[in-house]
Amino acid sequence: MPAPLANLHGTMMALEDVKISAQDRGFLFGDAVYEVMRIYRGKVWLEAEHMERLRRSLAEIRIHGVDLDRLTRRMHETIAAGPFGEAMVYLHVSRGTAPRKHAFPKQATPLELLWVQDYDDAATARHRHIGTKVITHPDIRWGRCDIKSTNLLANVLANQAAAEAEAVEALLYLPDETMSEASHSSFFTVKGGVVQTTALRANILPGITRNFLVDLIRKIGMPLEERPISRAELFHCDEVFLCGTTSEVLPVVRIDDCTVGDGKPGPISLRLLAAHVQAVEELSR
Ligand SMILES: Cc1ncc(COP(=O)(O)O)c(C=O)c1O
Repeated sequence: MPAPLANLHGTMMALEDVKISAQDRGFLFGDAVYEVMRIYRGKVWLEAEHMERLRRSLAEIRIHGVDLDRLTRRMHETIAAGPFGEAMVYLHVSRGTAPRKHAFPKQATPLELLWVQDYDDAATARHRHIGTKVITHPDIRWGRCDIKSTNLLANVLANQAAAEAEAVEALLYLPDETMSEASHSSFFTVKGGVVQTTALRANILPGITRNFLVDLIRKIGMPLEERPISRAELFHCDEVFLCGTTSEVLPVVRIDDCTVGDGKPGPISLRLLAAHVQAVEELSR
């Protein structure tokens, strides 16, 4: 397995050799945004969509002067320097290094870091076919989860609660008991043949996989509703599945102490999983 290979401002180096200032604003304030992309057989999946979300995240927090075409070229050069086959890329831009003051520094050069590493899908792949367990957990995140920022402490705490319950994910609920999303995934439910997911708002990330599946579901002609989903409803769904760049489509068969449907991945989840697999295969043709 090749060691993770980083690219810091255009210079490639082993990830373990990357050095970042202790005054970097990403480190001190979480003043940074990021993307994670999957590489299948050397090709980046949904690259344009991820780069567009990165552009939007940067604009929303007013980090200016990042040349995304150059960053994309660096990403391709780093992948090509591999050999990387089944891999992922992590892309990170912070506001840069400056004396520690909360307000934006007058002069700071954004930090542009990425790295490519092999991705072992085996454990998740097994669960795609037998289903997985999740918990529900309060959503204590900030009000702009539509920005893919590195402020992930609330996500970390929710995911740790899931890990302690031997679950893979935490489905997050808001104070009004409607669901937002999961700690590092989007999710869908199915009831009576209708696929449902939370509508995009400021308190959920516009997941690239979520949006890909919404388009796919519409193309197939399956009924789809984007609307608030209550926590109580979750326990009466026929099917629930997570989705995300690395989880792809991951059926859920247990939520807290309740079984979803008959305890096996449902037909709609499996159909969308198969469609995702097929779309990825077409990428590498
Ligand atoms: C909070 C959150 N929601 C959803 C997702 C899934 O997004 P994507 O499909 O773009 O990977 C992620 C991915 O990291 C996430 O962190």
